[in-house]
Amino acid sequence: MGNSCQQKSSSCSSSSCGSPDAAVAKQNMAITSSLGKIRNKILVMSGKGGVGKSTVSTNLALGLANRGYKVGLMDVDLHGPDICRMLNLTEKLQAVQTDGRSLLPPMQYGENLKVISLEYMMEDRDDPIIWRGPLKVQAIRQFIADMDWGELDYLIIDAPPGTGDEPLTVAQTIKDAQAVVVTTPQEVALADVRKSLNFCKHVKMKVIGMVENMSGFICPHCNQSVEIFKTGGGEKTAKEFGINFLGRVPIDPRIVVGGDDGTPYLSSAADSPAIKAFGDIISNVEKQTAAASSSLKIADAGCACGSTCNPSTCNC
Ligand SMILES: Nc1ncnc2c1ncn2[C@@H]1O[C@H](COP(=O)(O)OP(=O)(O)OP(=O)(O)O)[C@@H](O)[C@H]1O
Ligand SMILES: [Mg+2]
Ligand SMILES: [Zn+2]
Repeated sequence: MGNSCQQKSSSCSSSSCGSPDAAVAKQNMAITSSLGKIRNKILVMSGKGGVGKSTVSTNLALGLANRGYKVGLMDVDLHGPDICRMLNLTEKLQAVQTDGRSLLPPMQYGENLKVISLEYMMEDRDDPIIWRGPLKVQAIRQFIADMDWGELDYLIIDAPPGTGDEPLTVAQTIKDAQAVVVTTPQEVALADVRKSLNFCKHVKMKVIGMVENMSGFICPHCNQSVEIFKTGGGEKTAKEFGINFLGRVPIDPRIVVGGDDGTPYLSSAADSPAIKAFGDIISNVEKQTAAASSSLKIADAGCACGSTCNPSTCNC
């Protein structure tokens, strides 16, 4: 990046202005262009960790891809990226010479699914990375601006737990992102989900609906459902908040094995209650996003505060 500009970029009229603000403006344009080709952006979030967000994201993305949609899966859990392991993707991004305008290729999984995760960008996946807020913001913006997503029907975004930098950056950068909130039936998870829903309200993110995961247990011997925790809490909370209930996925030990092996069980052809449950959830997501699909919206990539400030430094 050049540093010859002596003026603030707002007053600099040079098209080759190399000021940091000009770089942000250029990135904003790249983000707008990228997002303009993606019909539905879905952020999978939860207040609590370990409730199954990455499982839901992966299987939602795969399920939609299997139904013929063009799908992207973006892992913005920068501290604990799981998506590569779940899909057994071991590729590394090759160092490519770009002229600053060429976009980088995401990983490809099957014909219809493109995947981006931090692990793909790292030389050594075991390298510890110390993240500060602004770096996270920048990484996520690059996931959108620098990647060749092309035309997509759905971009599924797997977030870390909580309402920190990552979901906030997604909300600020992708103005028409919609949320799928994942919970488990226990009261403690439901209390956290309320926080997620309040976050969505605060950042004006539409909620597509809620998934209750680990809802009952499927016995591996007889395939019957056994209620371990009380089920139905997710549906009750969804009603309370006036949002859609997308469905409940039972605990099925084969999901853990599939996630660890990189062969997602829910995308297999097996006939089980968990797979049926996921099929219903995917159909519900399709239904809820049908309206958005028919009217392609171009997201504006400005700051959430609505002014022309620098979104990566604004405290709005
Ligand atoms: N319905 C299910 N039945 C059985 N195991 C499940 C189910 N859903 C998720 N799991 C398992 O639970 C563990 C946590 O799931 P996952 O990683 O998807 O949660 P997460 O919300 O993304 O976690 P984190 O907050 O750490 O990102 C994984 O081992 C996964 O395989
Ligand atoms: Mg996860
Ligand atoms: Zn049994």
